[in-house]
This record gives sequence, structure tokens and C-alpha cells, in this order.
Amino acid sequence: MTATVDGTTQDAPHYPMTRQCPFDPPRELAAIQADEPIRRVTLWDGSTPWLVTRHADVRTVLSDQRFSADNLTPGYPATSPAVSARRKNAPSFIAMDDPRHAFFRRMLISEFSVKAIRALRPMITETVDELLDAMAGAGQPVDLVQAFALPLPSLVICRQLGVPYADHAFFQARSHTLIDTRSAVDEAVAAPDDLLHYLEGLVAERERTPHDDLLGRLAQNHVVPGEITREQAASMGLLLLVAGHETTANMIALGTLVLLQHPEQADRVRDDAEAVPGAVEELLRLLTVTHLGRRRVAVEDVEVGGVTIRAGEGVVAAGEIANRDPQAFADPDEVDVDRSPNHHLAFGHGVHQCLGQQLARVELQVAYPALLRRFPGLRVDTPLDEIAFRDAMVVYGVHALPVEW
Ligand code: HEM
Repeated sequence: MTATVDGTTQDAPHYPMTRQCPFDPPRELAAIQADEPIRRVTLWDGSTPWLVTRHADVRTVLSDQRFSADNLTPGYPATSPAVSARRKNAPSFIAMDDPRHAFFRRMLISEFSVKAIRALRPMITETVDELLDAMAGAGQPVDLVQAFALPLPSLVICRQLGVPYADHAFFQARSHTLIDTRSAVDEAVAAPDDLLHYLEGLVAERERTPHDDLLGRLAQNHVVPGEITREQAASMGLLLLVAGHETTANMIALGTLVLLQHPEQADRVRDDAEAVPGAVEELLRLLTVTHLGRRRVAVEDVEVGGVTIRAGEGVVAAGEIANRDPQAFADPDEVDVDRSPNHHLAFGHGVHQCLGQQLARVELQVAYPALLRRFPGLRVDTPLDEIAFRDAMVVYGVHALPVEW
């Protein structure tokens, strides 16, 4: 790499690169990981943050609070013009540092504990069964995304939060705009504003009348006593609503497609209940649907993997390739539902590690085997090269997946 006097580089490759295979990260990332695992890349705006590709180094970055998640800090590597233009006055705690981040996250921990999520399992199972019943009754082919993958986590997060599912067309459309790196800037700014306004209405209703749901508890326990504002509660709701359905929906559809490509692994998921939790972890690792890297900016000089990252420099901690690091996983490109241990970084690491991971796990653990059992002859109706993959979306997956059985 050629360093210039101002510290930028002349040969920083463009990031993100284009995938050659829809199930694997771009080959260039594996080459970078092998040859120069921490190096500068060029983003859409010409900025040249550091790309960190090794499993151990990604963990280091994500667990060191000298790397800020605050996307308003100069040097923070923005994902796209749309993302960087978003409203800045109601940030969510995913983009805050401690102690502010912890202040908000703490209010939600009991809502997402193993115990709280275990209590949701019967509702999740019932929702899965209802959706599969409806799918069985529909004419074939069926788009798995619209019939199952998207409604399942949307229904679950709606019930948990207290958001009426009847409004799903409204919030799914805005959520889609929010995470599309190609969205027009004005639309990308309007989408979270619309969602915040909508959620503020739901919180206000719950300030007046207690409701037994997450937004209701936020309203009564934190907004009414004056600990947080209505807008802050709405911003927390927005993060949960978007993170709560986009990620899991894409894991369901893309994970199903992978299983259908590997019938022997699909058989294990269908027939062996004990293999299911491991299979879910393996699909999370392999697919790393949050594929554009975790973004941070150094607030002090920090050494990572022998490279000094200076205060003010951006970092893209690329979980998608760290989860294929041969130093951390044997045969990292193979799908192996029995892989153990499997210390993947699909839910991130450190203080921002996914708050909803127990919920996501239960949804996936219920969804995959139920789908495969209900439709033992499930098959994809379209050649792989005609499936639209979500390369430009912040959450990777498929836009649609026509299936028959
Ligand atoms: C954070 C992935 C499901 C809520 C994260 C992060 C990742 C992630 C990688 C870390 C972000 C960072 O470090 O910058 C996933 C995946 C999911 C999933 C792959 C599904 C398969 C969910 C669900 C919810 C949720 C179901 C909520 C209902 C959150 C929240 C954060 C987060 C609130 C921010 C945590 C914080 O900043 O303290 N998720 N997530 N996620 N996720 Fe998830």
C-alpha cells in the first residue's frame, strides 16, 4: 500500500466489493484477510477508513471503547449518502457511546433476557404455524419472503412492542427505505421521521393509558416520570422495530435457501431437534446478513493487530469476513450444522452486541424446522442467477424467494 504524506493511500480498494457468489463475501475480502488484514479502503465518499478483517482484530475493535459508535463523530465511516443524511436529532443508542448508550440499553435488558424470550416461545410457535397454514392454502409458487420470512418477525416484534401489525405496510416500506444504501436522500431522511412520528403517537397513547407491552412500559416507567422524553422512547422503539424484523426476516429466507442447496444439512434440521440450535448459529455465521461491516471511529490512537489507528480515523470492522477467518473456523466456507465451537460475530461483540439475539435465535430455531417439516418437498422455483439478492441493502438477503413443494 502506498502511503501519502497526509496519511491517505493511493491504492485503497473500493469497499464494499461485489460478491461473486451470493452466499460468500467477495473474494477480494478473503485475499485482504490473508495478505494485509488491516488496510485502508475507499468508501463511496472518497474517505479511506481502515478495514479490519481478522476475527481476533474485529473482536478487539468492537470491545475497545476507544472506538466510538457515534456516527456524528468526524471520521465515522458512513455507509451511503442516504445513511449519512439521516435525521441527527433523535439518535438511537446503537449509535451512542457509554455511559449514554448504557443508560438507554439498561431500560430494555429485562425485555430481551433469556427468560423473557422463553416466555414468548409459545406465541412464536403459534405464529409460525398460522403462517405456514396460510402458505399451505395458497396457490404455488409462493414468495417465501412475503408469506413467511417477513411477516413472522414483524408480527412478533409488533406484539412485543405494542405496534399494530395492521400498519405493517407503512413501517415495512419505511424500514426498507432506511436500510437501502441507494435510497434518495430526501426519502432516507423522511423515512425515520415518519416512523418516529408514528411511534411518538403510540408512546403518547401509553402515557395516558397503561398498556401491557414494551412501549407501554417505556411510557409509564420512563417517560411519565421524566427520565426520558417521548421522542427518545420513540427512537428506541424505531431501533427495535427495524432491527427486530429486517435482520431475522433475511436470515429466514436466505438461510432456507442455503439449506435447500445442502439437502443433507436440511435433513438434519428437519429430523433432529438437537441439531437445530447449532444449525442456526452456523447459518448466522456463514451468512452474516449485517454484511457492510460494523462501523466505528477511533477517539484515541489505538494499536490493533500491529497497526496504529489514529484518533479521528474510521474503522470498518468487517464481521462478514471475520466470520470466515480460517484462524478462527476450520473450513470456514463450509456449512456444517455440527460446527462446535462456533464463536461467530454475527451479533457483533462488545457493548453493542445485539440486544435482540435471544429473540432472533428462538425465531430461527422455531422457523427453519417447522418450515422444512410442513413442506418436505420444498424447492426453489427459480434458477439461482435469477434471484435478486440484497447487495445494496444494509441487511443482506433475498428480495423475493419463489418456492414450491
Ligand atoms: C445490535 C445483528 C436481530 C435489536 C446488533 C448488532 C448486530 C446485530 C451485528 C451490533 C451492531 C454494532 O455493533 O454496531 C442482528 C442479527 C439479527 C438481529 C444478525 C437476526 C438474525 C435483532 C432483533 C432485535 C435486535 C430481533 C430486536 C428485537 C438490536 C439492537 C441492537 C442490535 C437494539 C443495538 C444494541 C446496542 O447498541 O446496544 N444486531 N440482530 N436485533 N440489535 Fe440485532
